[in-house]
Amino acid sequence: MNIIWHNQSKQFHLYNEKISYIIGVNPVGGIGGIYFGRRIHDKEDMSYVVNRFSLPNVAVDPDTESYSMELNLQEYPAFGTTDFGTQAYEIELQNGSRVSSFVYRDHKIFSGKPSLAGLPATYANEQEAMTLEIVLEDEIAKMTLTLSYTIFADYPVITRHAVFHNEGVSRTKLIRALSACLDLPDQDYEWMQFSGAWARERIPETKKISAGSVSVESKRGTSSANQNPFVIVKRPHTDDFAGEAIGLSLVYSGNFIAKAEGDCFGRLRLLMGIHPDRFTWILNGGESFETPEAVIAMTSEGLNDLSQTFHELYNNHLVRGKWKNEPRPILINNWEATYMDFNEERILSIAKRAKEAGVELFVLDDGWFGERNDDYAGLGDWIENPQKLPQGMAGLARKLNALGMKFGFWIEPEMVNPDSNLYRRHPEWVLSVPGRKSSLGRHQLVLDFSREEVVDHIYGMLKKVIGGAPISYIKWDMNRSLTEVFSLAMDASEQGMVYHKHILGVYSLYERLIRDFPDILFESCSSGGNRYDAGMLYYAPQAWCSDNTDAIDRIRIQYGTSYGYPLSSIGAHVSAVPNLQTGRTVPIETRANVACFGTFGYELDLNKITEEEFEQVKEQIRFMKEYRGLLQFGTFYRLKSPFEGDQAAWIVVSKDKKIAIFGLYCLRSNVNALPGFLKLAGLDPDMAYVLDDAEYYGDELMNIGVTLTKLCQSGLTTGKDFVSYVKVLEAR
Ligand code: DGJ
Repeated sequence: MNIIWHNQSKQFHLYNEKISYIIGVNPVGGIGGIYFGRRIHDKEDMSYVVNRFSLPNVAVDPDTESYSMELNLQEYPAFGTTDFGTQAYEIELQNGSRVSSFVYRDHKIFSGKPSLAGLPATYANEQEAMTLEIVLEDEIAKMTLTLSYTIFADYPVITRHAVFHNEGVSRTKLIRALSACLDLPDQDYEWMQFSGAWARERIPETKKISAGSVSVESKRGTSSANQNPFVIVKRPHTDDFAGEAIGLSLVYSGNFIAKAEGDCFGRLRLLMGIHPDRFTWILNGGESFETPEAVIAMTSEGLNDLSQTFHELYNNHLVRGKWKNEPRPILINNWEATYMDFNEERILSIAKRAKEAGVELFVLDDGWFGERNDDYAGLGDWIENPQKLPQGMAGLARKLNALGMKFGFWIEPEMVNPDSNLYRRHPEWVLSVPGRKSSLGRHQLVLDFSREEVVDHIYGMLKKVIGGAPISYIKWDMNRSLTEVFSLAMDASEQGMVYHKHILGVYSLYERLIRDFPDILFESCSSGGNRYDAGMLYYAPQAWCSDNTDAIDRIRIQYGTSYGYPLSSIGAHVSAVPNLQTGRTVPIETRANVACFGTFGYELDLNKITEEEFEQVKEQIRFMKEYRGLLQFGTFYRLKSPFEGDQAAWIVVSKDKKIAIFGLYCLRSNVNALPGFLKLAGLDPDMAYVLDDAEYYGDELMNIGVTLTKLCQSGLTTGKDFVSYVKVLEAR
């Protein structure tokens, strides 16, 4: 890994063993793109890539008379220039002008990677990454713009963000400030997005790219289940096993946009950052604004390789603290078993049975506080309900600890019910527009986390209840989108700052609780997977993937999630049947076979299953305890897509390739079909593996495959509906 500055040509070359990223000062003093792709040789001058001519109807710089931004790759393009594509940023000066021109002033190259103030970001030490900060200035605006690039030594990854600083005295406005723009010289790509809704999150969808644009966005105040701030652009022939692709991930949990824009010259612009709608940041003299971080990764070896890069990067350079690379406890959560209708006795009876089965952690979900007996009341009153917990959290925790279980509970810090003591005392603490109605979502309002005193108050209450008992885990939920976003604490000109300040408030509360309770495992949740993003992973190493706990739907949801996020982050539980969301009845074996490719837990009352099923549960837990390190942190390959046929399959392989576990799932039986073979991936071709007492070489398993005859054949079918197999392969 290195970053080279070529003083004469004024070009930078960031490279590691796999990638090169070359940019330079362009003929008008700004920063232009030269190359991003597989590693190439370093050269003093690559200016031949720059087009210095004009074409009909193209505007050029008046000094050079030969340079147009429109005909050249840009790194962080501005509005009002000779570039007519979507701009990366826009500022409004006091005279109303929105034109700016930032030119190169100086730069710094150093080892390591600085953190971002108040924002989540990947991290690295001096051996693991190098950073380039290019400072540009606009003399008229009296502002600087710093473009920051980090290249990782061991990953084909560049991270980017930008910092605006007002060096003058007059107030300017940032109207748009995206995290990254990447111009590519051709358009021969497809766009992959991960879209959905509540209970059907992150379903991959592929679209052709051409002149014009495709984009995904959220304006809900959360990254959302509807679209995810992770996208891929790939060559049309690229699949999971071969071909080029670029992945872009935003380390941010609020409104966002990700866009691919093809121009009329066959080139492509990729953009990602905070959604510009309803974003205006006031920059007074001396103030700065830092954008969130965008992670750009590339592969020449298919989408599994790209996903593995994100998995490794996030496990090693985003997740922090005690739970970094730490196998996750097997938990039981009472939500689907009791909803809010519980008392201590009921909780203890669920916990005792779970303990007998080997479960390690009990999670008390919604309903333990205030007057919270249904979802109309109580949010905001983070004090134990004495009817349900007569001896408080501490009493319940003591009893669970005495059983030999760890304990954690549910919170939803950003919300308040109108029927709560907090709202009665502080109606001005919610996001709302004076004189207008405030929309409700699940009968609740959103607290104004852009106000420090609101965050302080919630922090105080939570600190007391968490600190008052031996707590090992917190599930942090967030159950509605933001509407009527307006802060009663800000003046008219500052209202465009509320969305972002709100999310900064969420991050600051996370940071304070993590600082106070560094050993607690946080799991983020937002009606399931409404806020499943890299920003959240910085604080909460795992996320409740979806409220849909149906194993067959979960195969699709977990499969889609795996493109951008590691298995260690995928909260996955075995729940009761018929499933509460779909009504489907799936064997308990399959429910566990899906959940074990995630953090694994149970979401039902184990007193209510048969003895035979209970014995299976004990075995599932034993299996998970033995293999969870591999299942959560091994190298993961998607093998068969649940979106393309009647079966789905995936595999995780240990780093030394000596052990692997694959899962095969029959989504729908297929009568009178040949069972066929399942080709595995990631094995050592020369190693002999033992599978079901027989021996096979890795190359056989990857090129011929595992015969499904024994696994799947039952009469005339190749597998009954919802049957599944999880098999361990061990090198001899
Ligand atoms: C939504 C979550 O996704 C569920 O798992 C559960 O925690 C409920 N909220 C509780 O209100």
